[in-house]
This record gives sequence, C-alpha cells and structure tokens, in this order.
Amino acid sequence: MRRALALARARAGLTTPNPSVGCVLVRGGRLVGQGATGRGGRPHAETVALTRAGRLARGATAYLTLEPCAHRGRTPACARALVAGGIARAVVGCLDPYPPVRGRGIAILSKAGIPVETGVLENECRALNEGFITRVRRRRPFGILKLATSLDGRIAAASGDSQWISSARSRAIVHRWRRECDAVVVGAGTVIKDNPRLTCRIARGRDPVRVVIDARLRTPPTALVFTERSAATALLVTLVKNLPRARRRYANPRVEVVGCRGRDGEIDLQAMMAEFARRGWCKVLFEGGAHLAGSALRARIIDRVAFFIAPKVLGAGLPAVQGLETRRVREAIGLRNVSVRRIAGDALIEARPVTRPR
Ligand SMILES: NC(=O)c1ccc[n+]([C@@H]2O[C@H](COP(=O)([O-])OP(=O)(O)OC[C@H]3O[C@@H](n4cnc5c(N)ncnc54)[C@H](OP(=O)(O)O)[C@@H]3O)[C@@H](O)[C@H]2O)c1
Repeated sequence: MRRALALARARAGLTTPNPSVGCVLVRGGRLVGQGATGRGGRPHAETVALTRAGRLARGATAYLTLEPCAHRGRTPACARALVAGGIARAVVGCLDPYPPVRGRGIAILSKAGIPVETGVLENECRALNEGFITRVRRRRPFGILKLATSLDGRIAAASGDSQWISSARSRAIVHRWRRECDAVVVGAGTVIKDNPRLTCRIARGRDPVRVVIDARLRTPPTALVFTERSAATALLVTLVKNLPRARRRYANPRVEVVGCRGRDGEIDLQAMMAEFARRGWCKVLFEGGAHLAGSALRARIIDRVAFFIAPKVLGAGLPAVQGLETRRVREAIGLRNVSVRRIAGDALIEARPVTRPR
C-alpha cells in the first residue's frame, strides 16, 4: 500500500477532475504490475497495472489507495476489470465518496468472491485525495490559506512591502503546493502591491490557474499575472454587473473574465468556490492578502491554514487577517489538528479551522 501511495502521490494535482490513485499487483510475493492515474484522470491506475501484469494478474493481490470505480464512464469499470483480470484478493485504502461508486466497487469484487480488506493506511489515502473528497462531499474544492507572517503577525511592512518575509526554503514549499493545486487565488490589493506571477517555478512544475479577485477592476491589465507566459490561464473574478467593462479592460486571450454574485461590494467566495467545483477543480490555494484571508475564513471555505512564521519583528504594517471583527477571545476561530514544522529559520504551522466548513 505504501508503494501504491507513493505512485499516487507523484501524480497529486495532475489528475483533476479525477482523484489520484495508485494500484500495485503482487503475486507470490513478487510485484507483477503497478500504475497510477494518468494526467487529466486517464487512464485509471488499475488499467495501467493490469495491462502491465497481463496474465500474471491471475491470483494476485491488488493494493488500491482508493476503491475501484464501479461505473462505466469513458473507460469500463475498474472493479469489473480487476475481476476479469483474475485477482484473488483486494486491499483498499479508502472508500470513494463519489455517488456512482460509494461502496459499489467493493460490492462488485465481493460478489465475484474476491475477499476485500478495507481501511489500510486509510488516513494517508484519504489525505492524498482530500481535494477530490471535499469537492464530492461539499461541492466546492478544498481551500488552503497560506500566509507568510512576521513573529508579530504581520504580512507586510508599513509601506506594503512583503518581499520576502519567509525563507527561500519556505517559498520553495509553496511552489510545490502550487503544482498540486488547481488554482491559486489572490486579492486585487496583492496584485497592485506585489505584482506576483503566481506561476510554479520548480523543476517539473505545472502552473495552476491564477485567479485575481477584483470586484472593482482596480488591477492593471499589464500586471504580470495577466501577461506572463504560462500554460495555464489567468482568471479575473469580478461582480456580474462589471462583466462588460471587465471584458473590455482585460481583452487578452490569456485572461478569462468570470462574473460572480457579490455581497456588500465583495465577491461571494462561496459562489466562486461552487463555480470552481463545477469546473472539476479539487484544491485551491489562497495566497492573501489580509482582506482576502479574512473574507475566505468568514466564508468558511478554508479547510487548512498554513502560516509560515518568520523570525522577524515588523512592529508596523498589515496584520495577517483583516475584516473578522472578533470582539472577544472566545469568538476566535479555533484550530485543530495542529502541526508545527521547522523550515530553515521559519516555523510552519498548519491546522484545520474548527468552524464547521461549508
Ligand atoms: N506575507 C504574505 O504572505 C502576503 C501574501 C499576500 C499579500 N501580502 C501583502 O498584503 C498586502 C495586500 O493585502 P490587502 O489586504 O491590502 O489586499 P488583498 O486581500 O490582496 O485584496 C483585497 C481586495 O480584493 C478585493 N476583493 C473583492 N472581493 C473580495 C472578497 N470577497 N474578499 C476580499 N477581497 C475582495 C477588494 O478590492 P476591490 O473592492 O477593489 O475588489 C479588496 O480590497 C500587500 O501589501 C501584500 O504585499 C502579503
């Protein structure tokens, strides 16, 4: 199962809209076939492993990070392909919550007389596809809020300068996350102040869709996020009423303008995330600034916060999160599943907000 997990991990973020799955076939203690979901979700891991194993799949044990699919889509159901391949036993990491599957893949195997063991390394298998699972269950992608703060909780100095608060190693981790996410989102204020590219600048990197939230069309069309060469598009999300003006202002084949409903002049982030889910996106990385961070937390679309806390005291500048208007300590957003890691001189704190996410 660990091997199957490693295979699937190598494709994390590249298989959208499908989950990234690993499959390993073992017969008589020997590995006879293995595979992971292909880019864009095809072929399925089981198909690759069965093809590699050929006749050697007969009598093998199949290790699968996720329940095999039970529905005929663009390819035949994997559970049936495993039965036809003659496997003798299946070991499954976690169940697939997708309604056409949800237990049916296991049922097909069991009905064919194949013993199935489930829940092996379940947490790891689930974590690997937290994006897919969240999209299926909540009809929105998994939201991650990443910020780099000083020890006194600022994300920019008094002039608005924020480059760089965290270490080069911390920033390299963020580039890895960009590769694993379908989209990265920033607010108009960040584009105006920092002019970020939001591309994934590491070896074998892949750019996510770069999203700018700009209700009033303040960001210049010449900003790098719109003009930088990238295989991925840039998306400008604005209020529906500003769509015609936005289309004129950002008339650029690399930029897609999307209208979203709003509330008090702000973009309704829940509606935006629902639209992202309709596009099949599973994981979205929110990279600030402070107003977008507050708004995203308020909208309860954040499943994980990741703060890189640098050993610096700014003493002035922008607090990490704005607009929450928390009056008492007991009104604070609590965090659970807290992990702390040291990255160069920084502390990376990751946790899950306690407020029930939508
Ligand atoms: N250290 C870090 O990790 C980090 C990361 C990013 C940025 N920063 C720093 O943060 C500063 C920018 O942060 P900021 O708080 O001023 O701006 P921001 O959060 O990047 O952008 C906020 C703007 O986005 C627009 N917007 C539209 N809908 C929104 C919604 N639902 N929620 C929030 N914003 C919405 C609003 O402008 P309109 O009303 O005009 O649409 C709003 O003023 C810069 O100094 C930058 O250097 C630091």
